[in-house]
Amino acid sequence: MKGVGALFALLLTSVVQAKYIVPGGRWQDTEGNLVNAHAGCIYFDKESEKFWLYGEYKIEGQEEGGGVSVYSSDDLGTWEPHGLALEPVEGHPYISTEHIIQRPKVVYSEESGQYHMWWHADNSTYGWLLQGFATSDTPAGPYEFVDAVAPLGNWSQDFGLFTDRKDGRSYALYSNGDSVEGRDVYLSSFNENVTALDEVVHRFDKFDLEAPTIIQTDQSYWALMSHKTGYRPNNVVGFRADKLEGPWSQPFIVSPLNTRTFNSQSGFSIRIDGTKKTTYLYVGDQWDSNSLWESRYIWLPVDINERKKTLEVQWHDIYDLNVKTGEWRGIKGKTYTTKSAKTAGNAFKQEANFATTGEIITGIYGNDSTVTFEGIEGTGKPQWVSFYYQNTDDMGFGDQPGGTPDRIGGAWQLRRISSVVVNGDTENVETLFQRDTHKGIILSTPLQLTLEKGTRNTITVGGLDNGWDFKGADLDRIVVYPPE
Ligand code: GLA
Repeated sequence: MKGVGALFALLLTSVVQAKYIVPGGRWQDTEGNLVNAHAGCIYFDKESEKFWLYGEYKIEGQEEGGGVSVYSSDDLGTWEPHGLALEPVEGHPYISTEHIIQRPKVVYSEESGQYHMWWHADNSTYGWLLQGFATSDTPAGPYEFVDAVAPLGNWSQDFGLFTDRKDGRSYALYSNGDSVEGRDVYLSSFNENVTALDEVVHRFDKFDLEAPTIIQTDQSYWALMSHKTGYRPNNVVGFRADKLEGPWSQPFIVSPLNTRTFNSQSGFSIRIDGTKKTTYLYVGDQWDSNSLWESRYIWLPVDINERKKTLEVQWHDIYDLNVKTGEWRGIKGKTYTTKSAKTAGNAFKQEANFATTGEIITGIYGNDSTVTFEGIEGTGKPQWVSFYYQNTDDMGFGDQPGGTPDRIGGAWQLRRISSVVVNGDTENVETLFQRDTHKGIILSTPLQLTLEKGTRNTITVGGLDNGWDFKGADLDRIVVYPPE
């Protein structure tokens, strides 16, 4: 009996306790697999009272055309997998594994009593630029393919969907390709049934942007979209308007300059109407073009000031979100700077006026040129640790002519991989992915580690092979967070 009671108590806490949201971490679903739903959407279903996450399903060897996966959650942190909502069909003219099935969005159609899925449907060379449409009686699917169409006769590439909370009307947002005649983003209303588009409400003319989403506050509409740099992130911009049809403001950058929106691309956003607070989340993707199936998620709170007409995406290594009250808080961690770090081999501390202590640890390489942070406090339970780093291997992506380093004989690298070892236990080497940054821009990647209880832990960072070299990125500091 006692055992059953304890089990019940355990189940109860696991239901009540929300998980932290950790942007850029390896997110695992309730079965221990990586959450595999890229560039998708989150739909809150009133009937099931759950958040449903849909996205592009990607695995090694099948990066496109994998179909649309679906997960459900009560807290936006714990994700239960439900397989594929839209499965690719061999030989199908629009949804075979040879096709592009990107940026799926789901909305409930009151008229049809069904869930409607829309996405960017294309051939493998992005030559068709269509919108795909499928329906299902349940949020999880399976969704049945209906059609793939050219919206109002136009092209449609990156696809977004927005439902106006004032009247329940849904809108499609889509960039119309890279051709000279394209390079716009359209905002078009759906018909009542959400089965076809009605009319163009606004055109973001010739800004050449993509990955659009709209956040609706009580006073404003905020459209967020990225520049077009493929799977490399850039500085996402926002526009503001009182009405969907405009006039819309000039675009403005939504995050600290040159962080490239904390190494992410826009694509979706959600509004959480809590009992105490309304919270807006930026729901972005951190693409990994070296291995797309390992791409991660950057979901961050958005700070909006209606008076100043500003919107900012704010970085937090970890935050705790209560989806019922709408409240969230950034979790406080303990910082260990270069002062608690000892270098070995050719790793050394170098002057860097942008770094926390005025110096950064560079020259981290392979097993021998390492840095060890000492005196780290742990709890004996898995804890998130954020590694703040700089990695300038892109040689100034966006600032160099042509955007590539080839002309100066370099190799353009997406990320370094560091080895992370706790308490000298080299049997267990963790891999820390460190995305490229602009020069002097410090970003962070989180890793979940188990430290021993007490204050005598060490964390040693070296360099692993990233396909080109064994360099670890330059380290500024690490921050150790309390367990969930
Ligand atoms: C951009 C788009 C993605 C995808 C890639 C392909 O990142 O936003 O949806 O189409 O390009 O390069």
